[in-house]
Amino acid sequence: MRKALEGVRVVDMTHVQAGPVCTQLLAWMGADVIKIERPGGGDVTRSQLRDLPDVDSLYFTMLNGNKRSLTLNMKADEGKQVFSQLLERSDIVVENFGPGVMDRMGYTWERIQEINPQIIYASLKGFGPGALESAKAYENIAQATGGAMSTTGFEDGPPVVTGAQIGDSGNAVHLFGAICAALYQRTHTGRGQRVQISMRAGILNLCRVKLRDQQRLEHGPLAEYPNEEFGDFVPRSGNASGGGQPGWAVRCKPTTEKGANAWVYVVIQPQVWEPLMHKIGRPDLIENPDYATPEARLPHLQDIFDVIEQWTLTKTKWEAFGELNAINVPCGPVLSTKDLIEDEGLRAEGVVVDVDHPERGTYSTVGCPFTLSDSPVEIKRSPLLGEHSAEILEELLDLPEGELERLTAAGAV
Ligand code: COA
Repeated sequence: MRKALEGVRVVDMTHVQAGPVCTQLLAWMGADVIKIERPGGGDVTRSQLRDLPDVDSLYFTMLNGNKRSLTLNMKADEGKQVFSQLLERSDIVVENFGPGVMDRMGYTWERIQEINPQIIYASLKGFGPGALESAKAYENIAQATGGAMSTTGFEDGPPVVTGAQIGDSGNAVHLFGAICAALYQRTHTGRGQRVQISMRAGILNLCRVKLRDQQRLEHGPLAEYPNEEFGDFVPRSGNASGGGQPGWAVRCKPTTEKGANAWVYVVIQPQVWEPLMHKIGRPDLIENPDYATPEARLPHLQDIFDVIEQWTLTKTKWEAFGELNAINVPCGPVLSTKDLIEDEGLRAEGVVVDVDHPERGTYSTVGCPFTLSDSPVEIKRSPLLGEHSAEILEELLDLPEGELERLTAAGAV
C-alpha cells in the first residue's frame, strides 16, 4: 500500500527536538526524509542525555525514526554544492536553526527559490518579528513567553512549565500541518512557498482559551476558577479546568509506599451530578440549594471536590475510575510515565512501540499518535550518523567517478 507522502523528498536541516519531531511525522507518512548533519558529531542530541556510553541517546533515537542520515559540512564549498543539488531534487526543506543561520550558510529564501521554485521552505524559530525576534529559544523559554507558564501552577506558587513539550513537539505538529497544506496548494499552483512558525505563536494557539479568559476578565471575576481574588491577568488556577465543565484532581488510595500519582481527575457534568452523589454516599447534596444546579455549585466547587475526595481516598485510582466511568462520570486516572510505558493497551494501539537498533539494542518509542486507513505507519529505527551518505549521494546526484572519495577526504561529507 502506498503511503500518504510517498514520493515526497524532504531535506531535513533540523536539530534538537522541535524540527526533528516534525520531520519524523513527515517520514511516518512515507516521505523520504534526508537528515543533514554536521560530519563528526551530527545532531547534538545524539550525544546528549545518554543512558548508555557511546551510542545514540534515546533523545535522538525517539525523534529521528524512519529517516536517512547524510553528513554534510555546510561551511565547506563542496558541502554547499551537494546541498544545492539536493534542493534541486527535493520537495521540502525544513530547518529550526537559530535566527539567521540559514542565511549565513548562503541559503536565503530568495536563493532557495532560485535553486528550486517548487520547493517548500519551512522554518521554525523562537519568535516572529518584534522585540524577541533575534533570540534563540528552547522549550521553556517558549512556554515562558507564550502564556503557558504564567497560567500553569497554583495561585500562591511560582509559574510552572508543563511536562508536555508544547513548545517543541507541540509546534512540530503545527509545522507538519502547515507543510502538508503548502504541499497540497502546490498541486494547484505548481509553486513552492515559505512556511514559518514561531514557537511563541504556536504556544499562544494552545493557550487560546486563556486569552478568551483574559477578555472575559474585563467583565468581572472568572466564576469557574477556584481563585478568590483576581488581578488584571488570568491567574494560575491549579488543576481547575476553568472551562464550561468543572474538574479537579482528587487523591486516591495509594498502591505503593510512595503513593505517587494516586490521583484521579474528575469532571462534574450537570447530568452526572445525581448519580455521582449517590455513588459517593452523599444523596443529601443532590437537592441542597447550594449544590443543586451548576450555577449554585460554582462558589462551592472546592467543597464538592473535597467531599468526592473522601470517597476516592477509599479507592485506588483504577477502582475510582472504574466505578465512576461505569456511571458515566468523565474521569481519568493520573498515569505516571512508568504506568504508560508498561500500558498493554498503548502497545496494542501501536502508540508505544519497541524498535531494534544495531548499537543500543531494543528501545521503546512513541509511535504515530494518529492513523490513516490508507497509509499505515511502520515505525523504524533512527539512522546512525552518516549511515546513508554514500547511498544518498550515489542515488540522487550524478557524481563523477571518485567524487564521493574526494568529498569524504575533503571533509565535506
Ligand atoms: N555543517 C556545518 N555547520 C553546521 C551544520 C552543518 N551540517 N549544521 C549546523 N551548523 C552550524 C550552523 O551553521 C550554525 O553556525 P553559525 O552560528 O556559525 O552560523 C550552528 O551550527 C547552529 O547554530 P544554532 O542553530 O544557533 O545552534 P545553537 O546550538 O547555538 O542553538 C537553538 C540551538 C535550538 C537554541 C537554536 O537553534 C534555535 O533557537 N532554534 C530555533 C528555535 C528552536 O528550534 N528551538 C527548540 C529546539 S528543540
